[in-house]
Amino acid sequence: MKICFVSSECVPYAKTGGLADVSGALPKALTELGIEVKTFLPLYSSINIDEFGLKLDYANQAIRINMGRSTHYFNTWKSHLPGTSAEVYFIDCPDFYNRGVLYTNDHDEAERFIFFQLAVLRILQNEQWAPDVVHCNDWQAGLIPAFLKMNFKWDQLFENTVSLLSIHNIGYQGRFSRDSIYGAGLPYKYYYPGGPFEFYNSFCFLKTGIAFSEVISTVSQTYAQEIQTVEFGAGLEGVLHDRQKDLYGILNGIDNSVWNPEVDGYIAQNYTLETFQYKKKNKQELLESFHLPYDEKIPVIGMVTRLAIQKGLDIFRPIMEEFIQQPVQFVILGSGEPEYEEFLYWIARKYPEKVAVTVGFNESLAHRITAGADMFLMPSHYEPCGLNQMYSLNYGTVPIVRQTGGLADTVKDYDAFPEDGNGFTFYEYTQSALLETLTRAVNKYSDKHAWEKMVTRGMEADFSWHASAEKYVQLYKAAGKNQGKIEQHYRMDGIDLK
Ligand code: ADP
Ligand code: GLC
Repeated sequence: MKICFVSSECVPYAKTGGLADVSGALPKALTELGIEVKTFLPLYSSINIDEFGLKLDYANQAIRINMGRSTHYFNTWKSHLPGTSAEVYFIDCPDFYNRGVLYTNDHDEAERFIFFQLAVLRILQNEQWAPDVVHCNDWQAGLIPAFLKMNFKWDQLFENTVSLLSIHNIGYQGRFSRDSIYGAGLPYKYYYPGGPFEFYNSFCFLKTGIAFSEVISTVSQTYAQEIQTVEFGAGLEGVLHDRQKDLYGILNGIDNSVWNPEVDGYIAQNYTLETFQYKKKNKQELLESFHLPYDEKIPVIGMVTRLAIQKGLDIFRPIMEEFIQQPVQFVILGSGEPEYEEFLYWIARKYPEKVAVTVGFNESLAHRITAGADMFLMPSHYEPCGLNQMYSLNYGTVPIVRQTGGLADTVKDYDAFPEDGNGFTFYEYTQSALLETLTRAVNKYSDKHAWEKMVTRGMEADFSWHASAEKYVQLYKAAGKNQGKIEQHYRMDGIDLK
């Protein structure tokens, strides 16, 4: 089976969040199942060609792409995902990817990702490599299913190629001006209110992907249900509900060669469940590095997060000061919305013995917090999957989470389920529910017996990618079986897609 994996971020090359972790790990797990994978990524200027040993791909140079009135060229670089046979192709077009950040609010943001998606298909043509499935991730790859059915339909190479769209976060939809449709070379006739391209007066890449891919997935079973509701669907619930039969939830896994306390190269002291007593060296080192006093009896709560409203900061901010009057310390790493960055700086200044805050993106600190903290907080408003709670469980760091999306699928409350609870959860998205749960967790910390049980359950659980990768293979097959289904659906409405 041949899979073309299209993503706008991928570890170790470019990362803003969990999508990068998934894109770095899933293709690896797929190749271990004997699947041939080619991954595609823009060559952002932040990617260091020498550091990653990228090689110029002489077969795919100076390829021209017309987008409406503008013309751009790209070169291609290649590498392999570390330790695998999965090839990675980097689309090199400085006009678009020389911006300092991965995503922008620039006027040509739509063109940046239209170009990327067209470039992927152009390389496949050049290589005469026909994938069974193009696995499209998020809105940045949401147009490919439509491209295959329209602009590229003439090419017999893609005769048997179908698409799977994976939605990692329905809150990010890729909505642009309707004029971008011309740039994409897609037929304007499908832009009408309620049509496959149109969403609230904009051209929506994600909606297009939902409409034209053979199968749709998201990153946990609970989130697959949630996004079909008004509360979580961000306006796309109706469209998703219409495709209910083709919508699946597959939980992300974790890359055990990266997020594993036994081999983690970033942390002060490696450990396993058998040598769990060494974990405290990581706590000592973490606190020392921030000049926070160490006391074995005082639990440290870690947070590593994008500082976005999704992550529950609006219920956390008002209760944090009251909560830290209890015997507890915080180490927080995050970046994002300035109002939360300022708040965190303020509270760290006010409570220098209790709170350490780092604003920015810092891979090594993320690992040190996961290993050094006793608990890990994720009070997310919504969470499609969430990786940090699984990383924490793997490190014997007890998660405190809101019961939503993938958090609900991975963390069970110890008080409610003493037989198999592995953390602390709350359901109501309120300040009081969060405060009550944090307080429960801190009180429980002195109960060594209960704590040991939670730690053991977390560290013994298997969150590796293997099982999920097998489920993706099933989905790829399901997508193949759906070949022709979308075309048939439109034909019934008297529309011949092309
Ligand atoms: P999301 O993708 O919504 O941000 P996930 O839990 O799926 O949430 O994944 C977040 C990933 O990004 C994790 O690997 C986490 O460690 C990492 N991360 C988030 N913020 C930072 C940061 N400020 N510095 C380093 N890593 C971060
Ligand atoms: C998104 C979601 C997160 C998920 C990640 C990877 O960024 O917010 O919950 O884990 O994608 O699928």
